[in-house]
Amino acid sequence: MSERATTYITTPIYYVNAQPHLGHAYSTVVADTYSRFCKLRGDDVRFQTGTDEHGDKIVEAAAKENIEPRQYVDRIANLFKDTWPLLDIDYDRFIRTTDDDHVAVVKHILQTVHDGGDIYFDEYSGLYCTGCERFLIERELVEGKCPDHLVEPKEITEQNYFFKMSRYQEQLIDHLKNNPEFVTPERYRNEVLSFLSDPLDDLCISRPASRLNWGIRLPFDENFVTYVWFDALINYLTGIGFPGGEMFERYWAGAEHLIAKDILKPHAIYWPTMLMAAGVPLYKKLHVHGYWNVDETKMSKSLGNVIQPAQLVQDYGVDTFRYFSLREMSFGLDASFSSSAIIARNNADLANDLGNLFSRSVSMIDKYCASILPGPDATDRDDQLQNNAAEMIGAYRTHMGDFKFHLGLQAVWEFVGAANRYIVQNEPWSLAKDDSMRPRLQTVLYNLGESLRLLALLLKPVMPRTAAKMMDGLGIDSASAMMQTLEQGGDWGLSIPGTKLRKVDNLFPRIDVKKQAADHKSQARKTKNGGTETKKKDSLIGFDKFKDIELRVAEIVAAEPVPKSTKLLKLKVVAPEERTIVSGIAGSYRPEELVGERVIIVANLKPAKLMGILSEGMLLTAEFKDSDGNDRLTLASVSTAVKPGTKLA
Ligand code: MSP
Repeated sequence: MSERATTYITTPIYYVNAQPHLGHAYSTVVADTYSRFCKLRGDDVRFQTGTDEHGDKIVEAAAKENIEPRQYVDRIANLFKDTWPLLDIDYDRFIRTTDDDHVAVVKHILQTVHDGGDIYFDEYSGLYCTGCERFLIERELVEGKCPDHLVEPKEITEQNYFFKMSRYQEQLIDHLKNNPEFVTPERYRNEVLSFLSDPLDDLCISRPASRLNWGIRLPFDENFVTYVWFDALINYLTGIGFPGGEMFERYWAGAEHLIAKDILKPHAIYWPTMLMAAGVPLYKKLHVHGYWNVDETKMSKSLGNVIQPAQLVQDYGVDTFRYFSLREMSFGLDASFSSSAIIARNNADLANDLGNLFSRSVSMIDKYCASILPGPDATDRDDQLQNNAAEMIGAYRTHMGDFKFHLGLQAVWEFVGAANRYIVQNEPWSLAKDDSMRPRLQTVLYNLGESLRLLALLLKPVMPRTAAKMMDGLGIDSASAMMQTLEQGGDWGLSIPGTKLRKVDNLFPRIDVKKQAADHKSQARKTKNGGTETKKKDSLIGFDKFKDIELRVAEIVAAEPVPKSTKLLKLKVVAPEERTIVSGIAGSYRPEELVGERVIIVANLKPAKLMGILSEGMLLTAEFKDSDGNDRLTLASVSTAVKPGTKLA
């Protein structure tokens, strides 16, 4: 019998000098998704996050509030702890560097490295700012002064303890060369190797307790506290019971750290050399992601554009945020957050593509089979759809395992598109009109139910709430074996005919772009110089606003006149999901000449009723005069080579 693989995934432990924001939320959502994905893959998983609570920065932040560091760190650590449930983060341990077991492990490692001869005492000279209570480096100075305290730092010589990091340089280079996946994506591995091409300095790992006492005392010299990075990195060992214990044995070999590019050097250089000196095997992998900017600008307190996780959940919903952040950022590269981008993803991918597939399928099973999942006809297989599902699972498994979440989700959405097309091609509503087609109808509806089950299974790590809602709607017990792992549930045909479906709400309500745009406009007006812009300027729109309008190619699959109307036609279009559009083109087109046309629609228009028919979108047309001088309309169209659903950019 093969042993279960183990995975130990960690986030950085966040400094408590700032409140949780979008950047922290992203790393933690990624780690949570990966943890859930590994469980789905069948691994034995442990997931850790936490807070980094020692050092100058924290003392400074507490002093600003006139409270003791202990009181301050308790408050902010709780803010982080209270944030994660809002994002459905399911961690095993929340570690704090002020936890007793962590303090003991840091002392243990320091003693081991000291006993091994890799820590020495030496003099250090540098530019010290008393206001900052730390050494500054040349390039931090502005005109020779500390930018915060506007004083020239003093050149002081201080005695401190140093870690012989330089001794492990060659060993680390060898490890990076022999293990191409030690640091990924590759660009960050190259960055580390390039850094290591110059001689490595030793690392100063202490601060005299006389000027910083908020830290862990060195076990071999009580007059010093540990440098915050030497302390913080060790959290990854503390959390699994190092040095002894079953948990350490079980999880350390599967340790995968997740960080952003800002803390690459401590993780890819300090940490492995520390482990080498302590005689501990190296972690398995370091995954490095890029930075989120907000509206193309760096997120910062002074710009007032820091986005809080609680706000994200309130504005867009937890699953929309989780999906958006994983789908929008190519792991490793920077990405830009904007309200219009997240709304566009919500309305197109979630409300339209996935939401409509779910609601249409469930309502057809309700309408034609009294909400009971029908049995498929045993001789009637739809190989194409089954192959699409198998391709999706293969691509998903590979990409999610490689931290290429955007590609994993792309593969899932290709299948969503295929399932939507399957509905259009098979027209269950037509099959339902013909009794002799009943077995075929049952097969089609069963296949849709089965497609949705597989989607719920694969979406569990990314959108746990939505997946649970889908299972509920499909009448599937979320604890059933076929919804636990890819191994148990990834085969086609496991849904049980006869299962009673349940009524659930829409998976994703559309977010009203117009309302958001109006809010933004009034916001912008408030901040602009007194609303003195001219009318002409007002009629120009920014790209951001244009981006909100979603234009797609649609194929007209059916057309009929609207009774009692001379102008309107009722059209059924595929884009790629099927929808009804009522259009005022009866004066220019006969219904039969429209079928098969590829036209352009505004896909994210709020549905409106025309002559009692709900119209879900609008066709783009242009007015002209024909040779007799009559007013006519012509449809904006594209070649039939362009697939329905293609977005216009
Ligand atoms: N305390 C150290 C980490 C010690 S780990 C042993 C620290 N803390 S931090 O609060 O500054 O967090 C940095 C991490 O927060 C980044 O590596 C990243 O995970 C996340 N992010 C902070 N801002 C971010 C963005 N703007 N975008 C993406 N993630 C970012 O460094």
